[in-house]
Amino acid sequence: MTLFRGTFFDVPDNPFTGGVLRSEQDGGIRVVDGTITDRGPWAEVRERHPQDDVEDLTGGLVLPGFVDTHVHYPQIRTIGALGMPLLDWLEKSALPEEARLADTAYAQEIATEFTGGLVRSGTTTALVFGSHFPGAVDALFTEADRVGLRVTSGLVVSDRILREDLHTDPDEAYTAGKALADKWHGTRRNRYAVIPRFSLSCSDELLDSCRALLKDVPDAWFTSHINENIAEVTTVKELFNAEDYLQTYAAHGLVGRRSIFAHNVHPTDGELRDLAAADATVAHCPTSNSALGSGLFPLKEHLDHGVRVALGSDVGAGTGFSILKEGLQAYFMQQLLGDRGRPLAASDLLHLATMAGADALGLADTVGDFSVGKQFDAVWVNPAQGSTMDVALRHAFSPEDALAKAFALGTSPSVTASWVAGQQLQR
Ligand code: GUN
Ligand code: ZN
Repeated sequence: MTLFRGTFFDVPDNPFTGGVLRSEQDGGIRVVDGTITDRGPWAEVRERHPQDDVEDLTGGLVLPGFVDTHVHYPQIRTIGALGMPLLDWLEKSALPEEARLADTAYAQEIATEFTGGLVRSGTTTALVFGSHFPGAVDALFTEADRVGLRVTSGLVVSDRILREDLHTDPDEAYTAGKALADKWHGTRRNRYAVIPRFSLSCSDELLDSCRALLKDVPDAWFTSHINENIAEVTTVKELFNAEDYLQTYAAHGLVGRRSIFAHNVHPTDGELRDLAAADATVAHCPTSNSALGSGLFPLKEHLDHGVRVALGSDVGAGTGFSILKEGLQAYFMQQLLGDRGRPLAASDLLHLATMAGADALGLADTVGDFSVGKQFDAVWVNPAQGSTMDVALRHAFSPEDALAKAFALGTSPSVTASWVAGQQLQR
């Protein structure tokens, strides 16, 4: 039994439909075996549990652990390749590095760097684009399990247009994916996701094998890319002779409640209707969309259609693991859209960074906020004394203002520590 003391902020109800920021300036949260059993003002919680050990997190803010719904494990070393649109960037930067993960020893190094990157940024739950190589995916699950993160991931598959050495075939994709899922799906905090890279690099037969695997692994997740870049969208529609990009997945039974599509910067109205009807989620990746010049995300249209939206860092097209930075960039983007934008408040950003991702991943009953009954997944954003963020936080005039300052100034180094199910993650 531990009593955590600190300034706790969370957004238990969706602010896009009326929810508000919940804050406890000098708060207490009691955790028993990883689960929150009591919460409230510190003095009251302490009085109810005078014997419990205390973890003092006073200074800065304690937020629910961040949820990254789109991040590529093999791309950590490629972060920062600027100046290219998607298809050039893939060919010149991302894919040559992804090919190196054929060497499992190399992949193990990357897996350690990658999980370290998540932990240091306060991400506690992630939907991770794996590798094209089964040994590398096994290395990721092994490392995530050792560290204690909540990771949903899987083998990435493609059978055309990428580099030859990243291609598979439908049978091999199914067999290798099934073996990984048998080992890791539901093993402690790991879960399996079926992951065709994007329909541009996948034949109809390969997408059918994805459907078969999804059917044979109960409660597996599905993720891929959609409508990221205009040239990509045009090519996909030509390759499949399809009316729109979403159809290329829907025709193979790949669009449902457990499907998460990254980007969707250029959707049609029909696609937004279909995504909402299927109860699928879009992972918005604002620093990636900005870095690759993919476009400005139409958040308002997504929300108006009732499409679930969460945040993704999209490392390595995205510029780092910090979900605080993604929140800030999401805010910038909506400002730049002017009348077509959806102005975002700090509480909206915290929702996108936490509960929206938990909900997207079907974990809303487990994590995402600090309600009694949930697991204590948390990040302590506690900037160095005298830093600009420290100064700004000390002079915040309201909880919402403090939270806005955290998004404006917070970086991975401002993350002091994080917990999953009450256990502090080692760095
Ligand atoms: N589309 C297909 N592969 C990728 C990738 O690795 N990154 C991004 N941003 N888009 C993709
Ligand atoms: Zn991506």
